[in-house]
Amino acid sequence: MTRTHASRIRRTLASPLLLVWLAVLAVESTLAAAAPGDPALIPSIFRPESTPAHSIHELSMLVLAITGIIFAVVFGLIVYALVRYRRRPDDDGGEPAQVYGSTQVEIAWTVTPVLIVVVLSLTGARAIDRIQNTPRPAASLDVTAVGHQWWWEFRYPSLGIVTANELHVPVSDPANPTPTFLKLLSADVVHSFWVPRLAGKMDLIPNRVNEMWIAPEKPGLYLGQCAEYCGTQHAKMLLRVYVHARDDFDRWAGEQRQAGAQSQNVAEGRRIFETTSCISCHAVGGTVGTGTFGPDLTHLMSRETLGSGAAPNTPENLRTWIESPEHAKPGSLMPAMNLTRRELDELVAYLETLR
Ligand code: CUA
Repeated sequence: MTRTHASRIRRTLASPLLLVWLAVLAVESTLAAAAPGDPALIPSIFRPESTPAHSIHELSMLVLAITGIIFAVVFGLIVYALVRYRRRPDDDGGEPAQVYGSTQVEIAWTVTPVLIVVVLSLTGARAIDRIQNTPRPAASLDVTAVGHQWWWEFRYPSLGIVTANELHVPVSDPANPTPTFLKLLSADVVHSFWVPRLAGKMDLIPNRVNEMWIAPEKPGLYLGQCAEYCGTQHAKMLLRVYVHARDDFDRWAGEQRQAGAQSQNVAEGRRIFETTSCISCHAVGGTVGTGTFGPDLTHLMSRETLGSGAAPNTPENLRTWIESPEHAKPGSLMPAMNLTRRELDELVAYLETLR
């Protein structure tokens, strides 16, 4: 093979791989635009930060490489055939030599794909086994996640904590792992828990318990999203996983375990909360509100977002949210209570004390 020949072939093979790479970059930069500022917030499977996510990433890269090579070979052969056998002015218009059957070729293009499929299924099975059958260390944390239309409920049975939309877990040192095991349930329809940098997707199915685990290696915030269409506000069923150093996690858990704040200055707001239908859906520790249809509000102000990541948790947004949930999340199952302006102010002032 001459040198020009070899470099031409290399160019032909390189261009499809380049296309795949450019596609990956395009997806990444689109995600970057969606989460401006901090690249660590991009929910990308290409930057895993937790044991199951590493296994999935390794497998994806292998699959991407193999399928990329297949793509390059097929694409290269197509281009070669198009160029080599294109119509030329001096064609005599006759048919080319016809070739019928070749045992060698038949065997080659049967055996090669079978081998590829066998390799892919075995590596896939190994990755699934590594994730599903990992022994569970004694130091692991249990969390029950319940999918609701359209928010996440998180319960820590061993800690007596109930919170919503923002999952807090301790960091897991690979040398001394403290993973978090999630029990996934649904209160209504099928949802799917997906935080790409931490683990694969797992559905939350009514009347069924699914399980998954994460072992994040670096403290920080990891974003995710409900990954199964679950109704009008599926897109605003966002996930935020806060990974803390052990001390910070223990501090957070301690604060969450405390009884709710009861400030006398906001007695009127509390009265409005307790005498409106807020309490049919929401709980606040130490009040008559014990509803479980909506998020527990005992420590509402410890959360950074409202409406499952729909808006930052500021007093203005909280006010708008209560005044008209339809505005921030059309189709939201929370009704507007038709409170007067003064009642709204009092209620927001009360909720602002729930730290
Ligand atoms: Cu819940 Cu989509």
